[in-house]
Amino acid sequence: MGEHAIKVLGLAGEYRSTSKSGMLVNAALRIAQANGADVVFWDLAEKPLPLVGEEGCWAHPNVKEFQTLLVECDAFFLSSPEYHGTMSGVMKNTLDWMYDKHVGGKVFGLMSTLGGVTNANTLNHMRITLRWLHGWPVPEQLAVGHVKEAFDEEGNLVDESLQVRLGNLVESVLSATTKLSA
Ligand SMILES: Cc1cc2nc3c(=O)[nH]c(=O)nc-3n(C[C@H](O)[C@H](O)[C@H](O)COP(=O)(O)O)c2cc1C
Repeated sequence: MGEHAIKVLGLAGEYRSTSKSGMLVNAALRIAQANGADVVFWDLAEKPLPLVGEEGCWAHPNVKEFQTLLVECDAFFLSSPEYHGTMSGVMKNTLDWMYDKHVGGKVFGLMSTLGGVTNANTLNHMRITLRWLHGWPVPEQLAVGHVKEAFDEEGNLVDESLQVRLGNLVESVLSATTKLSA
């Protein structure tokens, strides 16, 4: 990585930056940016990724652009809504477009949003998938339950303890990225 700023890509398992997962990823990216990182958010509403396996998917221009960006980035924030006890199909499909050659040895920060009570299912399932990609998710993680009420109008977390956990997660991703590139 050398002298350049850490480049972080934010990915949500939903289609808009205004989805709760999009808001959570962008809250993490703002903290990373304030700490000197270059940040990018991939908005699937603007650049959808085809379903892996569908007609024409392998040559889709968005896939090529996405995989080029993966290679350019040093670290990743992922936030998925919990759907039926696991990550959304959108998040799984996004992960299915990643391979070891794009993200192997790189650091991940994991988050999830839930309509109901906080649990770690989705976080654990994303962690398992990352093992197959040789990604390095940091131990810190954040699940935000009862997510409908979780954000204020500026898109910040209302609960201060969650905001502290988010800051710790971002700090861990940035410091692990620096250590791994030393
Ligand atoms: C198909 C579906 C399944 C869901 N399953 C769960 C669930 O298992 N547990 C839960 O707490 N919330 C569940 N929810 C609520 C979502 O987790 C919640 O709406 C989401 O986290 C909001 O974030 P988003 O705006 O990024 O989608 C489900 C929602 C949908 C649409």
